[in-house]
Parts: sequence; C-alpha cells; structure tokens
Amino acid sequence: MKNIIVLVSGGGTNLQALIDAQGRGEIKGGRITCVISSNPKAFALERAEKAGIPAVVIPRKEYADSKAYSEAILAELNRQQADLVVLAGFMTILDECVTAAYPYKIINVHPALIPSFCGEGFYGLKVHEKALEYGVKVSGATVHFVNEKADAGAIILQGTVAVENNDTPEVLQRRIMENVEWKLLPKAVSLFCEGRITVKDGKAYVDLMDN
Ligand code: GAR
Repeated sequence: MKNIIVLVSGGGTNLQALIDAQGRGEIKGGRITCVISSNPKAFALERAEKAGIPAVVIPRKEYADSKAYSEAILAELNRQQADLVVLAGFMTILDECVTAAYPYKIINVHPALIPSFCGEGFYGLKVHEKALEYGVKVSGATVHFVNEKADAGAIILQGTVAVENNDTPEVLQRRIMENVEWKLLPKAVSLFCEGRITVKDGKAYVDLMDN
C-alpha cells in the first residue's frame, strides 16, 4: 500500500472527494496516511479529523520564504515516508528541493485547462475570474505532475465543462469542482497507486483499459 500524503490550505473539498473515494474502495493500492495544512484554520483539517486521518500543520506564515517553507515540508514528507504527494487546494508553490526529491510523485489539481489560466498568480477563484474575463466558452480542470515550474508538469487527466453566459467565478468554480475535480483527482490518485501512469519524454500516459 502506498502512503498518500495530501497537502491542503483551505476548504478541502478535494480532500473530501479523496476521503469519500477511499471509503468506497476506489483508491486502489494506496491510502491517505497524513494531511499537511499550510493554514491552521483550514476547514480541511476538520475533514481529516472526522475521517480519522492524522494531520500536521506547517503554517506558511511562520517561514521567511518559499525555500525555508519547502524544506520544512520536505522534512515532513520524508518523516511520513510519502509514496505520493497530492496537492489538493494547496496554495503555496513548492521550491525545487521538494520537486527534485519527489520526481513524478507529486500530483496537483488545477482548476483550468492547462496551459490556459495557470502559472504563478493563478489560484482559486482568480483562475475563474480570468477565464470569465477572457470569455472562454469551455473551461475545466487538470490533474498533473508537479515539477519545478508552476503548473507546468506532465498532464495526467483533464476534463471540461461549458461556460454559461451568466456565470460568476463562484458558479463556474463549483461546476468545475463537481463535474471534474472531485472525479478526476481520486481517479488520478488511484491510477498512480496502481502503477497505471507511465512517463515518457516528459509526457504522462495513462492506462485506462478497464476504466
Ligand atoms: C480547487 O478548485 C483547486 O483546484 C484550486 O483551489 C480550489 C481548492 O478547493 N487549486 C488551485 O488553484 C491551485 N493552483 P478545496 O480546498 O475545496 O479543495
């Protein structure tokens, strides 16, 4: 069984989707062994507690810069013997010391169709504000491996939703979460734990045969 460590910062609905999928037996070959939060007040921590999953708080505010913070995260990941790290609404970009230590072992969910509306400064509701400002007719979410560049690692799964004329950022965010993020993130985690994702020339290939 692979040790899955989930990193969170806020509401934790993606963490909840993972917990629920695990409860239904849909995460094959792994289990969530720890939740790490960058925010002591994150509601995600209550979700972890309710599910009986140990949680560790490493407050971003207590560290001078991204490098010092990333070193603290790396030490905890090593202590937890992480096999897979899942960024589920984790709002801090991790330094290269973490991505280099866990190559193709960190997965992120981003609420847009990468390479659109991604990279530094694109997180949470801001992503949907920008998509609506641009006037795109389709948006969605991307589950991808994390490398040293923000939102630039190999894409594992993507899914789309239609953008409606009267959408607000909140409405679009919710539609993308419900229809894409909460389904694709647990699916990607299971595919990883089952050894059904291969990487060749920097691209990820998923074996979806019996899905
Ligand atoms: C999700 O939409 C996630 O994709 C996004 O923040 C939200 C967190 O929700 N993540 C990013 O923007 C990271 N770049 P949650 O805490 O309820 O899972």
